[in-house]
Amino acid sequence: MLNFSKVTFKYKDNKDYIIKDLNFDVDKGEFISIIGPSGCGKSSLFRVILGLEKILYGQIFVNEKNIEYYKPYIGYMPQKDLLIPWRNILENTYLPMEIQTKNIKKSKIEAEKFLKDFGLEKYKNKYPKDLSGGMRQRVSFIRTLLTGAEILLLDEPFSALDAITKIAMQEWLLEQWSNLKNTILFITHDVEEAIFLSSKIFVVSNKPITDLKEVIVPLKYPRIRKDLMKPEILKIKEELVNELKQRVKL
Ligand SMILES: Nc1ncnc2c1ncn2[C@@H]1O[C@H](COP(=O)(O)OP(=O)(O)OP(=O)(O)O)[C@@H](O)[C@H]1O
Ligand SMILES: [Mg+2]
Repeated sequence: MLNFSKVTFKYKDNKDYIIKDLNFDVDKGEFISIIGPSGCGKSSLFRVILGLEKILYGQIFVNEKNIEYYKPYIGYMPQKDLLIPWRNILENTYLPMEIQTKNIKKSKIEAEKFLKDFGLEKYKNKYPKDLSGGMRQRVSFIRTLLTGAEILLLDEPFSALDAITKIAMQEWLLEQWSNLKNTILFITHDVEEAIFLSSKIFVVSNKPITDLKEVIVPLKYPRIRKDLMKPEILKIKEELVNELKQRVKL
């Protein structure tokens, strides 16, 4: 579904490479979490996949097609919500469909259903300024889901939520994913979240990113939170925390 072949990238005005000779593959329908210390280049990795930044060398393939020559359809939720202040919440959620001139009526109905599921129904006629950070993030997340894209790139979608809402959202996301069967790349700082959600974890442990250490999560779906208490899972959690701790410079 997604392949990196010797990809090298740096920002124009920076001398340091962010990504160097990176190879990795993601299969269709995988749920992959990406964890790594702040500033290691996780968001940049997404920007490169989306074609928002141009790579220096190498190739990126989506569905075996080189993205240099074709623009794949990818759902993206950036780290910072990009809600339009002068559109109300409902209007914000179906914005991408409006841009693509898809069936607005159908999109609107779907958007309303999602808003209800997320407990945001009564805010649908309010504006982004009237919502808390966590609520805005939920709206932004709904917007990404509504695009129906086969690949979703989610950049810390739940980081601004309180602990309980976060757990509810994680369970909700897994349920969605089991129905939609899309391929998800999910950036998070939260090791437990990565383990609970994903089939595989990519650990970024060097800068520039030259390889991604793959950790398989030995749990079947559907998952329940109690699975996190299994000894083999606690062991993986401990190893990941230690691995990340080593990379943090105080
Ligand atoms: N538009 C840009 N121009 C120049 N440098 C940038 C740009 N965006 C990010 N960087 C730099 O690239 C590096 C990686 O940033 P990036 O945002 O990808 O990290 P991250 O792993 O997502 O961090 P965090 O976990 O804090 O979100 C940082 O050193 C950052 O300063
Ligand atoms: Mg980031």
